[in-house]
Amino acid sequence: MTILALTLYCAFFFFSVTYYISTLATAPWVMRISCGARLDVHTAPTNTFWYKDFAYTGGIPANATRPSYISPPLKTLRYFPLSSGPNNCYNINRVPKGHYAVRVFFGLEGRPNFDNVPLFDISIEGTQIFSLKSGWTNQDDQVFTEALVFLTDGKASICFHSTGHGDPAILSIEILQVDDRAYYFGPAWSQGIILRTAARLSCGNGKPKFDVDYSGDHWGGDRFWSPIKTFGQGSDLARSTESGIKKASNTPNFYPEALYQTALVSTDTQPDLAYTMDVDPNRNYSIWLHFAEIDSSVTAAGQRVFDILINGNVAFEEVDVVKMSGDRYAALVLNTTVTVSGRTLMISLHPKEGSHAIINAIEVFEILTAESKTLLEEVSALQSLKNALSLPLRFGWNGDPCVPPQHPWSGADCHFDKTSSKWFIDGLCQYEPSLNMAYFFMVSALDKQGLRGFLPNDISRLRHLQSINLSDNSVRGAIPLSIGAIPGLVVLDLSYNSFNGSIPESLGQLTSLRRLNLNGNSLSGRVPAALGGRLLHGASFNFTDNAGLCGIPGLPTCGPHLSAGAKIGIGFGASVGFLLMVVCSMCWWKRRQNILRAQQISARGAPYAKARTQLSHDIQMTRHYNQGNARTAAENGPSLLS
Ligand SMILES: *[C@@H]1O[C@H](CO)[C@@H](O)[C@H](O)[C@H]1NC(C)=O
Ligand SMILES: *[C@@H]1O[C@H](CO)[C@@H](O)[C@H](O)[C@H]1NC(C)=O
Ligand SMILES: *[C@@H]1O[C@H](CO)[C@@H](O)[C@H](O)[C@H]1NC(C)=O
Ligand SMILES: *[C@@H]1O[C@H](CO)[C@@H](O)[C@H](O)[C@H]1NC(C)=O
Ligand SMILES: *[C@@H]1O[C@H](CO)[C@@H](O)[C@H](O)[C@H]1NC(C)=O
Repeated sequence: MTILALTLYCAFFFFSVTYYISTLATAPWVMRISCGARLDVHTAPTNTFWYKDFAYTGGIPANATRPSYISPPLKTLRYFPLSSGPNNCYNINRVPKGHYAVRVFFGLEGRPNFDNVPLFDISIEGTQIFSLKSGWTNQDDQVFTEALVFLTDGKASICFHSTGHGDPAILSIEILQVDDRAYYFGPAWSQGIILRTAARLSCGNGKPKFDVDYSGDHWGGDRFWSPIKTFGQGSDLARSTESGIKKASNTPNFYPEALYQTALVSTDTQPDLAYTMDVDPNRNYSIWLHFAEIDSSVTAAGQRVFDILINGNVAFEEVDVVKMSGDRYAALVLNTTVTVSGRTLMISLHPKEGSHAIINAIEVFEILTAESKTLLEEVSALQSLKNALSLPLRFGWNGDPCVPPQHPWSGADCHFDKTSSKWFIDGLCQYEPSLNMAYFFMVSALDKQGLRGFLPNDISRLRHLQSINLSDNSVRGAIPLSIGAIPGLVVLDLSYNSFNGSIPESLGQLTSLRRLNLNGNSLSGRVPAALGGRLLHGASFNFTDNAGLCGIPGLPTCGPHLSAGAKIGIGFGASVGFLLMVVCSMCWWKRRQNILRAQQISARGAPYAKARTQLSHDIQMTRHYNQGNARTAAENGPSLLS
């Protein structure tokens, strides 16, 4: 199965013990998985521990090619060919409630001549956080995606969704706990948002570094800092210092001190500093800017003052790093939120007359709204349907049925209820293909799918269903009684399957039912009277082509309802009747023989033929009587003959 939860469970029992010990020491919860690895892995230089996932059966483990030097030095990956279905997930259990940085590195299969670079989508807890863009293998910082999420239900579900461009291939998954208020940016920040890292740059630094390499705090989520030596105008200068930095590793974000020991500063020829990046349009971004005065030429407040503009709009006015941080060699963090309508985000620092700008680090997050999930009750009902019908992998019934909305389970129709903010299932039939036709080839309804198995009784837990079409499959067994408890069912098409038994009386309770196709099954018995009555009211019901249905207009009338005693009575009566018939036919045959003989005599001219016939009759009667077992027949005999 592509859901890895079951097997992961065992590993995480062991892990939760470790977790208990670690909470005592108030260390963050950490889970690192090396995908496709047969054995646990330790990687240099920090001896980082990675769990193997080889026991898990979803997808296929393979040797990895790491497309970038940034990737952790892992040698295996797990990929999900289309035969695994379009949605594949790692479901990690026993994750303590908290705030986490979740990071996924992508890999390339290490097969010779492998040139199919996959493009796919990634979701965390049902929210799509990232779509790989073509050319990702050529950009070092595009080999992973990372997001800050709240995990509140004890689980982490991380799913990979095929888009028809190659097989998703995953090198590693990391779930790293961070402070509950990490990257708090103001009142709009809540547990319902997800911050996807769009850029994280260490300015004036030559080497890429993770927090661990920087000896940063464990609560920082082991951030990866891309190096940026220049903003590109060729007129900025890199600065660095060995001096210690005050107030760097503060709650809630715990930045590494080393982050503030390098910077870019502007020069006389080009006093403005500007950083430009590509973004997705019409999104909100949270921007975090880091400063520390590390340039020996600036010794006091007032010597370096600049405005910060984002896409031309002033975000911060008259920033004076020494004044605001309280000292030289002290960290200052500013954050702001912007809506970007175009495809570029430009952060520019515009110094006041006579001074220069400085910046040490930049972080840009895309603000995503976490998707509401599908009602749990309905998810578990669909799971049981999936098992009962042995649904093929191509249906992609992994993760959440309705979210991300770009990748719903095929065959399940989703509806979002605004008042309860939950998704529910209102149909098991037709998937409306999304506008994005790239997904179209993978989606299908549940009719004509060669489905086997049976319909489970808890299908009624999908209590918002309006239509079910399982037509033209090989589903067998009884029609579950409970279907009658789905109040709003309008269409029920179970035609051309192998359902047997009788039609449950409960279907008569479905007052909204307008189309009921039960034709082409092996159903027998009486059609519920309540359905028969409905026929008159313009609904379209089809019961033809079954083993033996009866009881409504158009079908044979059913036999009378009989008690066991009545059946015995009828049986006895029938046997007696049968015997009587046997005896009578014997009498008739004998008499006929006599008549024939008499006719032969009369043909010879005997005038008393009639009397003789009478005589032979008397003899016969006596013989029967003597046998003593056919008194009635013997007594009736003369009347039959005369
Ligand atoms: C992966 O590489 C190892 C050698 O490094 C080799 O023994 C193994 O067969 C490879 N596995 C696959 C699936 O190619
Ligand atoms: C980010 O900015 C908001 C308001 O602009 C402020 O309330 C918040 O404390 C800042 N967050 C941090 C961690 O500095
Ligand atoms: C961006 O934020 C504004 C105001 O907070 C909100 O109205 C808008 O819906 C957000 N846009 C997106 C794409 O989330
Ligand atoms: C159910 O699906 C079949 C095709 O497999 C279609 O012919 C039929 O009309 C559908 N039933 C309803 C009620 O839409
Ligand atoms: C229906 O078919 C199943 C086998 O598929 C059989 O076990 C069961 O007894 C049948 N039920 C009726 C009522 O004929």
